[in-house]
Amino acid sequence: MSVALVAAALLAAGMALVRYAPERPPGDGDARPVPSSPASAAPGRETLRDLMPPGVKIGSAVDGRGLSLEPAYRALLGTEFNAMTAENAMKWRNLEPLPGVYAWTGADQLVDFAHQHGQAVYGHTLVWHSDVPKWVSPDWPADQVRAVLQEHVTTVVSRYRGRVWAWDVVNEVLDEDGTLRDTLWLRKLGPGYVADAFRWAHAADPGARLFINDYGVEGRTRKSDALLKLVRDLRRAGVPVDGVGFQSHLRWDQPPRDLTGNLRRFAQLGVSVAITELDVRVALPATPQKLERQATLYRQVLRACLAVTACVSFTVWGFTDARSWIPGYHRGYGAACLFDGSLAPKPAHAALLDELRRQLPRAASPSPG
Ligand code: XIL
Repeated sequence: MSVALVAAALLAAGMALVRYAPERPPGDGDARPVPSSPASAAPGRETLRDLMPPGVKIGSAVDGRGLSLEPAYRALLGTEFNAMTAENAMKWRNLEPLPGVYAWTGADQLVDFAHQHGQAVYGHTLVWHSDVPKWVSPDWPADQVRAVLQEHVTTVVSRYRGRVWAWDVVNEVLDEDGTLRDTLWLRKLGPGYVADAFRWAHAADPGARLFINDYGVEGRTRKSDALLKLVRDLRRAGVPVDGVGFQSHLRWDQPPRDLTGNLRRFAQLGVSVAITELDVRVALPATPQKLERQATLYRQVLRACLAVTACVSFTVWGFTDARSWIPGYHRGYGAACLFDGSLAPKPAHAALLDELRRQLPRAASPSPG
């Protein structure tokens, strides 16, 4: 039997040849491709990855120590997700601790793991005001700052050309009031650095999807209004912005205002949208009631993503409370992830599975008549 015939037979039998589908073109609307069959689920129990509709990636941020040291962490990462983001390993300070001296090991390990497990890698992050190496000096003249930033973007994107499906090209460039954040890049290079970063990244890997990523923009806020305008202006100027990332570091008691409508208005600009860093922190101590509300919010964010065709991925910022950044950064809060500190699934995980299953019968049921 020829390869083509084997492939045709497998397809006819309803078996997926690849675990995640190529990206759908950006657009908006409620039409969804038929979700992958639950028959592809690993024996035992269905995972998020098994139930996710094709064309929407389900990812997690990955902690370097978990990845290299913990078999149980690796196992869950490999089975629940078909995409991942480096929580820290691809940040500039970690990649280039000294000028021209690169430390690729952590990022390479992540990319290798992803590819061994059929997972897409979302690159995070090229231009940010935080985690800039200490040797980049605010005293340098503008030309030097520009050269070093261009070199950084070009080197990192080139290294992973063809192996990273999307990049956060710029991260958190807006202030809460919607103006461009006062950073070294803005002060030295002026507002044009945003467009330049996209052009450099595009030149280094024309196949990568290029995102602008921010927090506090999930609902309709002053900041999301400003982001919408920024993205529109960039696209009108021909800047290769392909997508908008909504970090979604949420609080259990503060759902964003009109999440779905907000994602839609971005989609209408012709860009993809993505949930890039979702976690839902609760005020400690976590109670069953709080974890139920947390689960509802996780579900709502997934539902919003699935309701907007342009939403191409749904990523949580770590999957276990054992390794979450929240307790270290948000005093009094924690328990923000889908799995607890012992890697047992929480109500939020069950809620996501349930939401995905609810989408199945509708799409999979035979058409009437
Ligand atoms: C956080 C990591 O989770 C922490 O481990 C690290 O110490 C600081 O950065 N927005 C972002 C992420 O874009 O890179 C941040 O990640 C969380 C907020």
